[in-house]
Amino acid sequence: MTGATQGSTLGVDIWRGTETGRFQTFAITRRAHQTVLDVVTEIQREHDATLSYRFACRVGMCGSCAMVVNGRPRWTCRTRVSEVIDAGGRLRLEPLRNFAIVKDLAVEMTQFFDKLKDAKGYFEPGPAPTPDFAVVPPATPERQAADAGIECIGCGVCYSACDVVAWDKDYLGPAALNRAWTLVNDVRDRGQGERLDAVSQSNGCQACHTHMSCTSFCPKAIAPTYAIAGLKRAVLRRALRGNL
Ligand code: SF4
Ligand code: SF4
Ligand code: FES
Repeated sequence: MTGATQGSTLGVDIWRGTETGRFQTFAITRRAHQTVLDVVTEIQREHDATLSYRFACRVGMCGSCAMVVNGRPRWTCRTRVSEVIDAGGRLRLEPLRNFAIVKDLAVEMTQFFDKLKDAKGYFEPGPAPTPDFAVVPPATPERQAADAGIECIGCGVCYSACDVVAWDKDYLGPAALNRAWTLVNDVRDRGQGERLDAVSQSNGCQACHTHMSCTSFCPKAIAPTYAIAGLKRAVLRRALRGNL
């Protein structure tokens, strides 16, 4: 940030309300290295204590601070104002799309997390788990495929960016399908048949239109589009084997 910009005034338009509401404008001071979450926190602490939003870790770990910033979903604790400010020098903050709004910038995440469960996005040890640690060499293709998607923080950015979720509220969505793919590649897991059944329903991987918004916007550089393509291949292979 230049000396001239630092200390100048930043105009911020923030959505207030639920599905109905309006944008409210605030003016705050620009500071060096200021993040979008810093801006929202300053507004809530110094200007309007009734502003609702969510955050926890402030360091890109918890996934709770995502919002739509100047038209695009982002994690706000790791997004500097200088990276996203528009040509007119303003910030426009809205709640994530494709989620019901609880209030202002806070959205209802229950359906999003339920879909992780619906996609069987949890480890299934089977009836007789081995008592010892499994050795899964890092260089194997399965381990590498699982590792590529494992750092998901559940922020909802991909889900907010996905047009198929907007059209079909039942679509499992990129985060849940990405999670399922990490487990399909987990050689210790014993729930593959049920998982592939779950993700091959009409609301599953075949509904993805491969338009890459999830992959373009994921702040953790995960590629749900490729995970979903992998699920499509796995579902087809299983069908060719007679669902075994
Ligand atoms: S690639 Fe598939 S999951 Fe990702 S945004 Fe597009 S339709 Fe949604
Ligand atoms: S895949 Fe990426 S964008 Fe989607 S919830 Fe996980 S971390 Fe967020
Ligand atoms: S506050 Fe935890 S990821 Fe942003």
